Amino acid sequence: MRIGILTGGGDCPGLNAVIRAAVRATVVEHGGEVIGFHDAWRGVLEDRWEPLTVERCRGILPRGGTILGTSRDQPYQQPDGAEAVGAAIARHGLDAIVAIGGEGSMGVVKDLHRDGIPVIGVPKTIDNDIALTELTFGFQTAVQICTDAIDRLHTTAESHDRVLVVEVMGRHVGHIAAWAGIAGGATVTLVPEDPFDPADLAERIADRHRRGKWASIVVVAEGATPVEGSIEVGPPERDRWGHEVLGGIGHLVERDLHERTGIECRTTVLGHVQRGGSPVAFDRVLGTRFGIAAVDAVADRAFGQMVALQADRITRVPVADAVGHLKTVAPDLLRTGRVFHPPLPG
Ligand code: F6P
Repeated sequence: MRIGILTGGGDCPGLNAVIRAAVRATVVEHGGEVIGFHDAWRGVLEDRWEPLTVERCRGILPRGGTILGTSRDQPYQQPDGAEAVGAAIARHGLDAIVAIGGEGSMGVVKDLHRDGIPVIGVPKTIDNDIALTELTFGFQTAVQICTDAIDRLHTTAESHDRVLVVEVMGRHVGHIAAWAGIAGGATVTLVPEDPFDPADLAERIADRHRRGKWASIVVVAEGATPVEGSIEVGPPERDRWGHEVLGGIGHLVERDLHERTGIECRTTVLGHVQRGGSPVAFDRVLGTRFGIAAVDAVADRAFGQMVALQADRITRVPVADAVGHLKTVAPDLLRTGRVFHPPLPG
């Protein structure tokens, strides 16, 4: 067995655990070989790669990021992209390419499979928004980082009697915000699934402070939006792949809250700190299980499948079923956070 492996999209703690496990399973269980393409699909198209041996993978389990490098480039950005991937597979005598990536990368896996290219998907994202898998690795690490940060921000909020706004990642869904908000004891959590009313937010916070309950923490997902006609949010910037560059809602919430309540507010944007550093144990284990499952899928020639976590078991789902719709935060988890929101006065 010969497998090509690559990591695409934003980096994420746990990617190296997947690579290490896939190499180990291929070598030990199948007597096979793995090559790693550099910088995602760009390495496939430009024939930049390295052999991945058990020795090469020593020590990478606790390391964040990806030893292979990543990019948002993908084959369909060029007219003959699918043929070029097929040619790379033939040139290296590969059984398949295992692509580890987010929703965008899983879309590429779906299209390549449609075009007859042998591919397997491994879902990753700190946002935890990929459908048909209960969790993606990287998410628990991000939640822990946010929770630690919120714990620290509580003390400044209390000492200064301030509102501290914490902006966390989450483009279209608020899994990180919902979990970190509950774990960090946030006063209010704002998520993209549920557009917020700034007047309502200000009333709840102002009343809480009037009643002497200071030290409010407002967790806001970067993709959260105010209800129409309230705070004005300009059009988002886009990167060179047309991907929206989010961030900034925290400062808008801070300014609006201060104007409405007069309370001193400050914002912390956690940004890429959430994706950095060593994966927590859960993400190392999930990444390892996904890596081995991806090799099993190649052995079974189950191309066009994505490995997934369902009811604590590693399964496979057709990647075509997993893309095009995101996994939003379950209503009962949103409700759990809301129980702790300060009530409206009266
Ligand atoms: O999709 C993962 C993610 O971390 C999002 O939460 C965030 O909006 C985006 O990537 C940031 O992307 P970049 O690293 O390209 O700025």
